[in-house]
Amino acid sequence: MFENLTEQAPDKIMLLAGMYRADTRENKIDLGVGVYKNAKGETPIMHAVKNAERQLWDAEVTKSYTALIGDGGFHTSMADLVLEDSVDRDRVSFAATPGGTGAIRQILELIKAASPDATIWMSDPTWPNHPAIINYVGVKSATYRYLDPETRTVSFEAMMDDLADVKAGDVVLLHGCCHNPTGANLNLVQWGEVADLMLAKGAVPFVDIAYQGFGDGLREDGEAVRLLAGRFPEMMIAASCSKNFGIYRERTGLVMAISENPKANKMTQGMLSSLNRVNFSFPPDHGARLVTMVLTDDTLRTEWKTELEDVRTGMLALRRQLADALQAETNSNRFGFVAEHRGMFSRLGLTPEQVERLRTEYAIYMIGDSRFNVAGLNANTVPIIAKAIAEVDR
Ligand code: LMR
Repeated sequence: MFENLTEQAPDKIMLLAGMYRADTRENKIDLGVGVYKNAKGETPIMHAVKNAERQLWDAEVTKSYTALIGDGGFHTSMADLVLEDSVDRDRVSFAATPGGTGAIRQILELIKAASPDATIWMSDPTWPNHPAIINYVGVKSATYRYLDPETRTVSFEAMMDDLADVKAGDVVLLHGCCHNPTGANLNLVQWGEVADLMLAKGAVPFVDIAYQGFGDGLREDGEAVRLLAGRFPEMMIAASCSKNFGIYRERTGLVMAISENPKANKMTQGMLSSLNRVNFSFPPDHGARLVTMVLTDDTLRTEWKTELEDVRTGMLALRRQLADALQAETNSNRFGFVAEHRGMFSRLGLTPEQVERLRTEYAIYMIGDSRFNVAGLNANTVPIIAKAIAEVDR
């Protein structure tokens, strides 16, 4: 039967990660996959997480199953972090999942079960795994324009124009903060206008929030989600703990689905539980438990927040350094947006050929659409990278 399989186009982020690993040049620089790295190029375990792990080693007495939807403490602490008091908890259903990607997959299956004809609207561009999973699950999709190629800011008018075509019951997929791949984000006034339009159309928000704490701050990065949660009768959220807790391989994600009322919520909760059962049965627990411990213990939480804030401000400083270095190298402010963007990524606006030259001639790896990982920069590599970008851009 396997002879019937057709070759699968590899995800461009994973493809690049493989090429980087295979490159034997000592001066190679990885600005590809979205993994945080410190100035030494390491992805350290956060102290708060390591300390929670030590405590868990002592306290954990069983590895028996949790609930199908994961542990209640994880749901509560994550809902408090992301949603705060924007919505009554008896309207929120939960399902812990293998990573934020698992949450996206479960939400798409939930949509397919509840509303098979709904169209999912994605930003153009978006994280490449969004369309990949949407197509695989077999739901309809459309795109809305998002980035102004000239200013590298959100092309808000174009976005609103496109969203004006959304039909009642359609789902609009939004990045809660730190848009991936562009780094360009809506401000709160714009979020309000998007909400007004979607409410008028009867559309349902689906928010992917994978970088809370990497943009303007832990609370600030959740404001858009809470604005929507406070206004919409129904909403879906895929939250990831991979980046802000640095627990990538533990696969820790959560679905939060808001229903119109507690009665409807029971049905939603039942469906999410059933979807977990048929797809993977029980979700991984180790990462979820660490997150719960960190969020509910004052000492661990304070430690984690300090570390996360260091990560965030470190990336902001690197943005500034690269923008300044590019200004000096190109004698222009055309890369000034790098300092204004927020989150782990920006798209430089280089052509695929220029990106290819960066890789082959300078051993600098970024995604073909010229998305680069800010955390891949450091004080030593910024001047090298700025010079190389200016060279290929001449
Ligand atoms: C990224 O966009 O690089 C990250 O979200 C990692 C991934 O899985 O693609």
